[in-house]
Amino acid sequence: MSQVDAAREHLIETYRKKARHYDVTSRLYPAPGYPQRAQRLRAVNALGLRPGDTVVDVACGTGLNFGLLQEQVGPDGRIVGVDLTDAMLAQAQDRVEANGWSNVGLVQADAAAFEFPAEVDAILSTYALTQVPECGEVIAHGAAALSGGGRWVVLDLKVPDSTPRWLTQLGTAIVRPFASIDEWTMRRPWESIRAAMQEELADLSWNELFFGTAFLAAGSRGPRTVRRLHSAP
Ligand SMILES: C[S@@+](CC[C@H](N)C(=O)[O-])C[C@H]1O[C@@H](n2cnc3c(N)ncnc32)[C@H](O)[C@@H]1O
Repeated sequence: MSQVDAAREHLIETYRKKARHYDVTSRLYPAPGYPQRAQRLRAVNALGLRPGDTVVDVACGTGLNFGLLQEQVGPDGRIVGVDLTDAMLAQAQDRVEANGWSNVGLVQADAAAFEFPAEVDAILSTYALTQVPECGEVIAHGAAALSGGGRWVVLDLKVPDSTPRWLTQLGTAIVRPFASIDEWTMRRPWESIRAAMQEELADLSWNELFFGTAFLAAGSRGPRTVRRLHSAP
């Protein structure tokens, strides 16, 4: 098994153990006092959804965003939740059934390999994309599938820019109770996400939250343009 496959298996095993209690334990995520629900609401509002829209929630976990998304897209809209971990999706399925939502589709897939629906109106990922080694590619794949003006929004964790290394390691050890803390800190995936969003989207906004330990990034797909061929004079 390659290192990448082993890391993915480890991640799935970790979330299998967490799935049943995730909705409760994640309330303290990433740290006590962090206004998680308010930040989720901010992220969902940044999508600029309208009734009837289709939105993809990348690495949706147990579907903690679904209620907020439902309020925006309504019964004529569609939510597609994608996640790698079967047990997290099983919890999401329970949520969907308990709420009687018939407009939610759940897909078990690696975000890096997921084929986004064409002309999707918006894409969201919360507290997950920095765990995906190919996060920059996921941004690019999603951006290519967005309809003109469609929005890509990422809410996730990062290491504050001016933090001593020992404090960074302590913090990430607390909030990332799975392998590869050092790998995550060294890889600095939030920088790949920012660069890819800058490259692929118009009007990128980047807001650091909670003393630089989290960020909210949002951008739009520019209008689709037809490339003109210039004839020589
Ligand atoms: C901390 S949870 C966040 C779940 C949810 N987005 C939320 O805001 O509560 C991280 C989720 O990312 C998923 N995940 C991690 N790597 C993934 C990948 N490569 N493709 C799809 N899902 C992935 C995990 O299975 C887990 O459900």
